[in-house]
Amino acid sequence: MRILSGIQPSGKLHLGNYFGMMKPALQLQEQGEAFLFIANYHALTTVSDPALLRENTRDVALDFLACGLDPKRTVFFRQSDVPEVTELMWLLSTVTPMGLLERCHSYKDKLAKGIAPSHGLFSYPVLMAADILLYQSNRVPVGRDQKQHVEVTRDIAIKFNSQFGTVFTIPEPVIQEEVAVVPGIDGQKMSKSYGNMIELFGSPKETKARIMQVVTDSTPLEAPKNPDTCNVFALYKLFATPAQREEMAAKYRAGNFGYGHAKKALAEIFETAFAPLRQRREELAKDPAFVDAVLRDGAERARTAARKTIQAARQAVGIE
Ligand code: TRP
Repeated sequence: MRILSGIQPSGKLHLGNYFGMMKPALQLQEQGEAFLFIANYHALTTVSDPALLRENTRDVALDFLACGLDPKRTVFFRQSDVPEVTELMWLLSTVTPMGLLERCHSYKDKLAKGIAPSHGLFSYPVLMAADILLYQSNRVPVGRDQKQHVEVTRDIAIKFNSQFGTVFTIPEPVIQEEVAVVPGIDGQKMSKSYGNMIELFGSPKETKARIMQVVTDSTPLEAPKNPDTCNVFALYKLFATPAQREEMAAKYRAGNFGYGHAKKALAEIFETAFAPLRQRREELAKDPAFVDAVLRDGAERARTAARKTIQAARQAVGIE
């Protein structure tokens, strides 16, 4: 069973990305043959600074490797290292009804945010379909916001197959139902666009300072507190074992345990979890040749699968 997912290289990762996207992506390694790629062609629809795109791409690679991606098990590569995907995108474009793309929420949301409506932005879902179909993927784990794009992919694949003969596997979206809700320091959902994030690989000092800024209510130190309405507890929970969680909840309820204490505990548990990953990331950053070799090897393995599909698709439509 082939499982495929893509991540856009869009800057420094934060805790919301880690628990919402990265941890589930890393768990794919356990479930089947995982393909994971850095969607740098997609990123071009919103990033127009070449140096920044290069930096973000390298950062995502480092982040994933530091957080436990095993490049022997997972085929980890840069989207652009398999340019066959752009050829497939063209073939798919010719069977994609305009209306299908016009209905995409993500496109409309981006326009509403003020992003200029380029043709690339409009045909973003067709490139995504090419990503998925090129590797004959069975399962595509994505966030809720990307589910429609996988449905568009299915429609395109079904249409192509019925018109030209079966070339593509029809993929299934896998939506993480219980993705952790990660509050930002202001209590809203943690998101880059709200500026409320705690970075994954900030320095220990920066991280601690951010944690100290997490918003709490004004219950006095002595009073019992409700862990379930506290942002600090919500973050602590993500790292804690069930026993640690219970212990912390009991301290909240007992009183004489202030939010300052809770924040200190959060900073400590964060540090315990991420210090080894930060160290690993620093080592990897000093060894760009290793990271390049990983991505090159991933690209080669991906390309082997891609060539087969593109060959079949070319033959099916009659350009070969
Ligand atoms: N559009 C996805 C996102 O923004 C990233 C992506 C690109 C992707 N191609 C993909 C995800 C193929 C899954 C499969 O999150």
